[in-house]
Amino acid sequence: MIHQYDFLVLGSGIAGLSFALKAAGRGRVAIITKKHRAESNTNYAQGGIAAVIGKDDSFASHVADTLEAGAGLCREAVVRTIVEEGPARIQELIDLGVKFSEAERQGAEPGFDLGMEGGHSARRILHAKDTTGREVERALLAAVASHPNIRVFENFFAIDLITTRKLGLAGTNRCVGVYVLMDAVGTVGTFSAPVVMLATGGCGKVYLYTTNPDIATGDGVAMAYRAGAAVANMEFIQFHPTCLYHPKAKSFLISEAVRGEGGVLRNFAGQEFMEKYHALKSLAPRDIVARAIDTEMKRSGAEHVWLDITHKPARFVMERFPNIYQTCLKYGIDITKEPIPVVPAAHYQCGGVVTNVDGETDIVGLYAVGEVACTGLHGANRLASNSLLEAVVCAHRAAQRILAEPPARAAVDVPAWESRNAHNADELVVVSHNWDEIRRLMWDYVGIVRTNKRLQRAQKRIANLQEEILEYYWDFVVTSDLLELRNIATVAEVIIACALQRPESRGLNFNLDYPQADPAWAQRETVLRRTS
Ligand code: FAD
Ligand code: SIN
Repeated sequence: MIHQYDFLVLGSGIAGLSFALKAAGRGRVAIITKKHRAESNTNYAQGGIAAVIGKDDSFASHVADTLEAGAGLCREAVVRTIVEEGPARIQELIDLGVKFSEAERQGAEPGFDLGMEGGHSARRILHAKDTTGREVERALLAAVASHPNIRVFENFFAIDLITTRKLGLAGTNRCVGVYVLMDAVGTVGTFSAPVVMLATGGCGKVYLYTTNPDIATGDGVAMAYRAGAAVANMEFIQFHPTCLYHPKAKSFLISEAVRGEGGVLRNFAGQEFMEKYHALKSLAPRDIVARAIDTEMKRSGAEHVWLDITHKPARFVMERFPNIYQTCLKYGIDITKEPIPVVPAAHYQCGGVVTNVDGETDIVGLYAVGEVACTGLHGANRLASNSLLEAVVCAHRAAQRILAEPPARAAVDVPAWESRNAHNADELVVVSHNWDEIRRLMWDYVGIVRTNKRLQRAQKRIANLQEEILEYYWDFVVTSDLLELRNIATVAEVIIACALQRPESRGLNFNLDYPQADPAWAQRETVLRRTS
């Protein structure tokens, strides 16, 4: 049986839900999401959404900060569009019921409490205390739940895009649907629609240490790459400078907003060090702060640095950062009285599936928005809190574009999934071993500081692992663990290939063999496209 819809949305974070709500006025929408519907990077976002709201702020200033952080590689027209359309999309979120924190502090003007983060030259971060993503996700999911045209399929895992090229049909490559592992029943179903929206988020789990939850395995980039779409700039993996360092804490972020409110970084010996690296000190752009911490840790052999906000009034810290305060307390750290041990960790994928600002990819019928997409907004390094902004603006624009000229359903027979002679895997230890190996390899060889030799070594090892994984893939019944393994291997391949293509250091791609930026590469993106 083929499940036919007007719109297939893969992913239920801010990008997928925002698009689904706009598309649902025109047709039936299926949201396919691989875990519980709220489980997404969006749900863990802390700092907030950047937008020009304050009266002392301006579009020109937000554009300039984004371009500066992006280290010369942003597409300027895209930056302008996203920044200028931000306030209208924020108003829509408010109308949907998102409750952003309001100014209560002494001396602050009435209105929203605008936060500050690294690389911003004005207070422009709307936030809901330190759990902004949870609040946005709550409001969007509530709106989706009450929409009669939207059906959410939880624990449904998108395996691969169905394209006319894969079906052996001549002519323009077109996406006509998706194969989906229907976890609840353990079989693979076929979903078809004239519009397939990739909103599957990022790929933090490709690295051993990450701020991302388990869903972030780069499935969208891997699927699009296999389908023949262009992917770009994947060498620019953003490492967040301050992930909690604690043996029992899995991926807990300490928001940049803590530094925005005065928190300072200290080395293991307790000395401030950021003035050696940038005039903005602890609030410098993220690539610079993460690299500075990496240098300090390597120099001293320490396993972490400290983030110190003990000089601020305890009541302020507890009220502004209740989630961070409570979580650290659970691990025995009272952040009002002692500094927080922190380390950098993989956080955000600046590259992705190439799209324009309306979410269109180079495959007809396939769109991408949110972290999975590479619109050109972030360039070589994303400005803090610009990703939730990009997701809402681009989801809106994609909906407008598609609804203005809805693509017709292709007259194609979409075949059912073929499972060959697959049998149940009896050596799942191989899957978990390969998972660990890839993540460690990426951390050690394709991390904050790279060299050509390390990249080449990683490339060889990933190619071997991919052969093994492929054998598994053909021989055994697919499981979500195996599918994710195949995807992180593909994304690792793509990150390494992009990093090897770029003969310079720029933004987040720092290579000791070329420690400087090369002006000839200032506007060049590293684009990959699979042709077979
Ligand atoms: P996500 O929110 O990650 O959603 C992806 C969805 O796709 C999920 O529902 C997932 O289950 C689903 N999915 C993935 N693969 C499949 C598959 N194969 N089949 C079916 N479903 C699939 N950005 C900011 O701008 N401000 C912040 O303050 C901020 N804080 C952050 C804090 C943390 C801890 C993290 C991890 C990120 C933060 N970011 C922040 C980044 C931001 O949260 C993300 O970039 C953004 O939420 C991405 O939204 P998205 O909708 O594209 O993807
Ligand atoms: C944070 O709160 O530090 C995360 C902000 C972001 O990733 O944009």
